[in-house]
Parts: sequence; structure tokens; C-alpha cells
Amino acid sequence: MNNYINIKDLPSVELAVQEAISLKSDPNKYRSLGTHKTLVMLFFNASLRTRLSTEKAAKQLGMDVIVLNVTDAWQLEFDSGVIMNLDKSEHVKEAAQVISQYADILAVRAFPSLKDKEKDLSEWIITSFVNYATVPIVNMESATGHPLQALADAITIEELKTKSKPKVVLSWAPHPKALPHAVANSFIEIMQTIDVDFTITHPEGYELHPDIVKDTSVVYDQEAALKDADFVYVKNWSNYKDYGKITSEDSSWMMTQKKLKTAKFMHCLPVRRNVVVEDAVIDSEQSIVIAQSNNRTYAAQVVLKKILENG
Ligand code: CP
Repeated sequence: MNNYINIKDLPSVELAVQEAISLKSDPNKYRSLGTHKTLVMLFFNASLRTRLSTEKAAKQLGMDVIVLNVTDAWQLEFDSGVIMNLDKSEHVKEAAQVISQYADILAVRAFPSLKDKEKDLSEWIITSFVNYATVPIVNMESATGHPLQALADAITIEELKTKSKPKVVLSWAPHPKALPHAVANSFIEIMQTIDVDFTITHPEGYELHPDIVKDTSVVYDQEAALKDADFVYVKNWSNYKDYGKITSEDSSWMMTQKKLKTAKFMHCLPVRRNVVVEDAVIDSEQSIVIAQSNNRTYAAQVVLKKILENG
């Protein structure tokens, strides 16, 4: 594997999940693989889990790690042919090549604007690094995808399922801020590759990109969608059609114990308590959010390992 931009970059999701579970029992087994190699992580946006779990994963592979918050560096220009006489001091063409001299793998987090749909869909930031860097690129959440999170979610379901084909529901939740579609997109994509009975539920109007949803079942009645669910993944996303807007804050979509019944509760975190999910759910034994965040390390470790093995 060269880059990890999308879960489609994994040669096999199933094998990656199994490898991650195996790595968990002996995380330092491949410590020599990354010796004298450096992971540089660039953050255009805040992070708790991605930052710490990816660094831990790299260190368990013996890598050195350098983290740069891009807000501390020179402002980057991404457009070609512009006269750079305003606020941007450095072009990504130079920056990506310069960083590549210090890095063996470059990981990038860059959220969407949620203002310019076409530009966000073009993935202009991460694509610029893919185009101009000379080392492999790992997506730590881009405008349209969060494939490290999705892999951790698939690992968690595999570990905790009690039947061979569990029912998994992705349920939209209200949120006071306009949030990206990345987590939902990548979760949908990875669920489409594994053996689960998968349903999406959200208010009418909150349809995601049809190229992502494809023929996955979408049920607008949340109660009907949740019937007999084994895993319920709760996540807000802003409106995709009316791009980046909040067109519903319907609090009746919040996940409650009454709605969850016996299912396991999943969320990528961070989560707003009593807006997205009530305390009674996230504080219950049915909540597996801490296990999900633990699996972020092993998801990242499998990805970095595959890239290092590729030379
Ligand atoms: N789930 C996730 O990506 O968390 P952070 O934003 O804290 O990295």
C-alpha cells in the first residue's frame, strides 16, 4: 500500500481488521520496521484521538514522530498561478516537497470549509499533498473521509459482535454546529465491504452523497430503522444538498436508552452529551465508544505497517 486516502486503498478490509486484532496482542512485534523512519503529522484542525493514537501507533512500529499544527507555520497557498501578494507566504508545492525531506510518511488532517461544495469534494488540500509530496500520504480526516476512524469502527464491530451478520444502523443526530460528512461517509463505505446488515437513518433532506450511499437501505423512520439493531452508530452531519447548512435540530433524533434497547452504542467522539446522546446511554455498559477510540491505535498501526512494508 502506498497512500491511505480512502478505505479503498486497503488491499482487503477483512484482512486489515484481522491484522489489527492480532497486533493488539503484541503491539511491539514490528518495532524494527519503522526504525530510522519518521512520521510527520500535519494538523490543519484540532484533534485528540487521531493525534495521540497515530503517534502511539507509529512509535509502536519504532518510528520517530514530528507533529506540526499548520496554524503555527506559514500560511499555505494551494491555487496554481496566483500572484502571492496577500496573506499566503508559502505554496504547497514547495512545502510538500520540503516536508517530504524530513518525513518517510506524511499524515494530514484537513476538514472541509462546508461553504464551497465543489471545492470540498475536490479534496484540494489532501490531493495537493498527494500530488506534490514525494512520500506516502495518510488521511487523518479530510473533507469527505475519515478512513482511520472507519477502520477502527470495523475492528470494534468484529471484536464485539455476537452473531456472524449483525445489524448495524447509522443514525443521524442533532448538533448545534455544522459538521462534516467525513465520518459518516467512511463508515458507510467500510460497512458496505463487510458482512453486516446495514441501514442508514436520518431526517428527510439529510441524504448523503448518492455515490457513497449507493444501494444501502435508507429509512427515514428512526424507530423502524433501529428495530433489532445490534450496533447503533450515532453521528451528526450537516445538510449535504443544502450544503453545510443545519436544516434540522430536531432533538427527538437524540439517542436514548429507550430507542437503543439492547444494541451497542457507537460514536467516533468527541460527542456532545444530552444533545447527540443521553447520559444514560453513553454511561451504560452498552456504550463501546472507549473501545472504538482504543482501536484507533491499531487501525493506524496496520495502515502505517502496510506502507512501511511497501518500502
Ligand atoms: N474521532 C476523531 O477523529 O477524534 P479527534 O477529532 O479527536 O481526532
